[in-house]
Amino acid sequence: MSWHDRYGPIVRLAPGVCSISSPDRTVYSEQTRCTKSDFYSAFGPPGRSTLFAESDMKKHRRERKSLAPLFSTTAIVEKYSGGIDDCNKLFLQQLDRYDDKIIDMKHWLECWAGDIGSQVTFGKRIGFLDEREDVGHLLRAKASVLRYGSIVGIYPRIHPYVHALMAWWRGSKPIWLAYVLEFTKSRMAELQYQKHDLDGSNKDSTTGCLLGGMLAVHEKVSDHASIGGMRTDPLVFVFAGLGGLATTMSTTLFYLYQHPQCLSKLRQEMDTAGREGHSGIKSASHQLFTYKHGINMPYLDAVIKESARISPPNGAPLWRVLPEEGAIVHGHFLPGGSVVGSNLWVAHYNKNVYGADVQDFRPERWIQPPGEALSHMNQNLMMFGLGPRTCLGKNLACLEVSKLLSVVVRRFDLQPIHPTLEIESDFVAKARNHEVLVSRIAEKLRTSCE
Ligand code: HEM
Repeated sequence: MSWHDRYGPIVRLAPGVCSISSPDRTVYSEQTRCTKSDFYSAFGPPGRSTLFAESDMKKHRRERKSLAPLFSTTAIVEKYSGGIDDCNKLFLQQLDRYDDKIIDMKHWLECWAGDIGSQVTFGKRIGFLDEREDVGHLLRAKASVLRYGSIVGIYPRIHPYVHALMAWWRGSKPIWLAYVLEFTKSRMAELQYQKHDLDGSNKDSTTGCLLGGMLAVHEKVSDHASIGGMRTDPLVFVFAGLGGLATTMSTTLFYLYQHPQCLSKLRQEMDTAGREGHSGIKSASHQLFTYKHGINMPYLDAVIKESARISPPNGAPLWRVLPEEGAIVHGHFLPGGSVVGSNLWVAHYNKNVYGADVQDFRPERWIQPPGEALSHMNQNLMMFGLGPRTCLGKNLACLEVSKLLSVVVRRFDLQPIHPTLEIESDFVAKARNHEVLVSRIAEKLRTSCE
């Protein structure tokens, strides 16, 4: 941030590599001809393509088009909502046990995110919430995979060698990748068996999760992602869920409970949504928040956006490669092949876009009539990326976060123990010190609010 304050909107970090202060349209618009850089390849096994890392635009467009229906609003509401609610109920039950105690909220949110990610992807929880622990040390291993990708991604050519060296040193593939790949393989076998069992009665169960949906697409369209791609894309889905969701929930809860007036405004909005006919949210604080609720809750939307603005879930620039002929970026010509990227932290603290009080948590800044200022703020918000590479799981993630928020804030007071939230800034940022004092809101008080 300070470099941009000092040198302006483009800062050259290395030969052919520039940081840009805000998401220039040439680089991030829907029509862009820029591709993802090799940086992303280090987040998966070498030589295996994923939608997330793919740099061939045509291949990416084809694959994304075939996966998009699995992430449509209809699919999300009809197929995954039940599983999400089950994870949320389990999360609340676990938190109930810690009334009047201090807990490591960051850990519990990672357990929640890991289970929700695996539930939606495989139709089955890995079991972090059930076991109340980091099953097989996967969460710890995931953190080192993210650290690995964030560092080795800077020198992508060494990825195959370092990866092989680590596999040799540890006597296996890196533990997280190996575990999720094995999990994917065995769930694929189970789902395929269910689909082709003798009387076919289980047919529908295969479409209730992303992997089942991918198998169905694969059967219909023979040139869709190979079986290999199907094994690695689920890895991204669980990964993306784990990193992005846990961090977004951590920052949102932290800032909300640090700003009681915002918390009470949000609770009020939820109560009103309940009174206005959406009985699910009203009936009990563990009850279901539906997609329809979210549409009518501008303050909830503002709280999530403001939390992601002030503490973005990604810590590194979203790197792109300029097309052969080069391009003009922020008024400067840069040659073809240059790598440029905007860092979310720099973009989200731009005073020209968000106002002089960028350091303050103020969800109200998002509540204003539609107009140029608001659309400028939205265009600059990179929480889910931008353009053709925008997060495929965006709607799903918004529903997951909203569902959990709506039940947690109505059931608990979660007072942060530390005055500031420290963030570990790998490619996916991670909260470090989110300890909270849990107090269950008394039943009487809660129902009087409902
Ligand atoms: C709050 C949670 C989440 C956040 C903050 C988040 C953030 C992001 C961001 C910033 C990108 C763009 C990366 C780039 O351009 O370099 C991205 C891409 C992606 N995300 Fe998410 N994500 C979240 C949840 C999810 C979930 C739950 C899924 C899937 C189940 C998912 C799947 C993907 C995929 C597949 C891509 C690559 C899309 C493409 O390149 O076409 N994300 N996400």
